[in-house]
Amino acid sequence: MLELKNISYAVREGDGQLGILNNISLTIEDNKLVVFTGPNGGGKTTLAKIIMGLVRPTSGQILWNGQDITGLSITDRAKLGVSYGFQQPARFKGLTVRDLLTLASGDEKLSKDRCCQYLTRVGLCANDYLDREVDVSLSGGEVKRIEIATILARNAALMIFDEPEAGIDLWSFARLTETFEQIHKDKAATMIIISHQERIISLADEVVVVGDGAIRHRGSAKEILPQILADTLGSCPVLTKEVKAL
Ligand SMILES: Nc1ncnc2c1ncn2[C@@H]1O[C@H](COP(=O)(O)OP(=O)(O)OP(=O)(O)O)[C@@H](O)[C@H]1O
Ligand SMILES: [Mg+2]
Repeated sequence: MLELKNISYAVREGDGQLGILNNISLTIEDNKLVVFTGPNGGGKTTLAKIIMGLVRPTSGQILWNGQDITGLSITDRAKLGVSYGFQQPARFKGLTVRDLLTLASGDEKLSKDRCCQYLTRVGLCANDYLDREVDVSLSGGEVKRIEIATILARNAALMIFDEPEAGIDLWSFARLTETFEQIHKDKAATMIIISHQERIISLADEVVVVGDGAIRHRGSAKEILPQILADTLGSCPVLTKEVKAL
C-alpha cells in the first residue's frame, strides 16, 4: 500500500517561494490501477517524481507498505519495488536495448524469448531492436516504448508510467493498454498511470484529477470521466463561444 501524507513541494522564486504541490494526501491499495490526470502544469509529474525519490517534498511523508521511504534514495526505493518511467525518457549511448532489458530484469542471462515478450507488449519486434543502441538514432516513440518495456522487465510491485501514450502510434497504444489491463487483471502490480487518454482513464479503479498542485476531484472512472469532459469544454473559449452562423 502506498500512502502520501500531506505532501507539499515549493521551489524558491526570487525572494519568495513558489508552491508546486499543496498538501496532497492519498492512499493507494495494492494492485490497484490509479490514473492521475488533469491540466498541463497541474503537478502530476512532480508528484510521481516525489514518489520515486527524484524530487524531495518540502513537507509530508511517503509510506510504502508501512515503511517511511520519504528520506530514501531512488536506488533504495527501486530495491523496494518502486519503478518510474519518464514522460521524456533519456537515451543511453553505448547500451543496447538488450542491455537495458537485462539490467532492468536483474537476470544476467535474460533470454531472447523473454526480451521478445517485453518488446512485443509495447509493439516492437525484438529482431529489429534487440541489438540497437538506445541513442539518438531511435525515434521518440521508439525510446518511449523501450522504456516502458524496461519497466515491464523490472517486474516491480509499484509501476509508475508518465504519459505512456505520448508519441506512441495507435496500434502500439492499443497493445499497451491491453498490457496494462492484463497486469491489472493478474493483480501483478500496483500501477499509477499519468494519462490524458480516455481509454486508459476508463481502466482505472480510481481517477485522481490533479490541478494547481492539489487534488481537484477523485472517484471512479465512471464518475470522473463525464466531469473531465465537462471541464474540458468549460475551459475552452472556442468551444463555449456561441457559434455564429456564416
Ligand atoms: N523545479 C521547478 N522550478 C520551477 N517550477 C517548477 C519546478 N518543477 C515544476 N515546476 C512547475 O510546477 C508545475 C507542475 O509541473 P509538472 O511537471 O508536475 O506538471 P504536469 O501536471 O506533469 O504537467 P503536464 O501535463 O504538462 O506534463 C509546472 O508549472 C512547472 O513549470
Ligand atoms: Mg507531466
